[in-house]
Amino acid sequence: MQLFLDTANVEEIKKAYALGVISGVTTNPSLIAREGRDFAEVVREITAIVDGPISAEAVSTEAEGMIAEAEELAAIHPNIVVKIPMTGEGLKAVKFLSTKGIKTNVTLVFSANQALLAALAGATYVSPFVGRLDDIGHDGLELIQDIMAIYSNYDIPTKVIAASIRHPVHVTMAARAGADIATVPYKVLMQMLKHPLTDIGIERFLADWATVPKK
Ligand code: E4P
Repeated sequence: MQLFLDTANVEEIKKAYALGVISGVTTNPSLIAREGRDFAEVVREITAIVDGPISAEAVSTEAEGMIAEAEELAAIHPNIVVKIPMTGEGLKAVKFLSTKGIKTNVTLVFSANQALLAALAGATYVSPFVGRLDDIGHDGLELIQDIMAIYSNYDIPTKVIAASIRHPVHVTMAARAGADIATVPYKVLMQMLKHPLTDIGIERFLADWATVPKK
């Protein structure tokens, strides 16, 4: 399973990318708003840091507007993937964009049928939101399992991005379910990296090493 970083914060992206474990970035309008900066400028900066798929979201609600935004975003860099919301208008836009060779990430997916429709429209990626389903008492990871089973039944090439990841257990479970990618906030990436026994182990090794006689 690959890891994408779910943020629009350029400093976080630089730090995470330097670890060598991040293959792409996902953003959304809320993450962009948090930065208080120009959208295109942020996206351009991210493309200069990360050599991999970078999702930037269209905000129009009609297919025509989504397509126009997608064409503008795709012109920024070949690595841009246009995020399109899972609506009827979104599906029309995805169908059109897939015939034009513009990569899409169908977002706000909360059911297996939505994921099936997105794939049938030619989506490059789908983003089922694990955490937001958990928030309302559903099992977000069961959705990942269902989508993986359906896509595997029919050799569907659309890649599954486990999104709305809230903690490291979500990542482990998404990997166990066979998700192609998990997109993780910077905080979760840091939580994945850390283990108290690793810190204690290093401390002990260094303390013991200090007692070894040196010539
Ligand atoms: C990813 O593509 C989504 O934008 C993101 O994971 C949503 O996460 P949230 O539910 O924590 O806002």
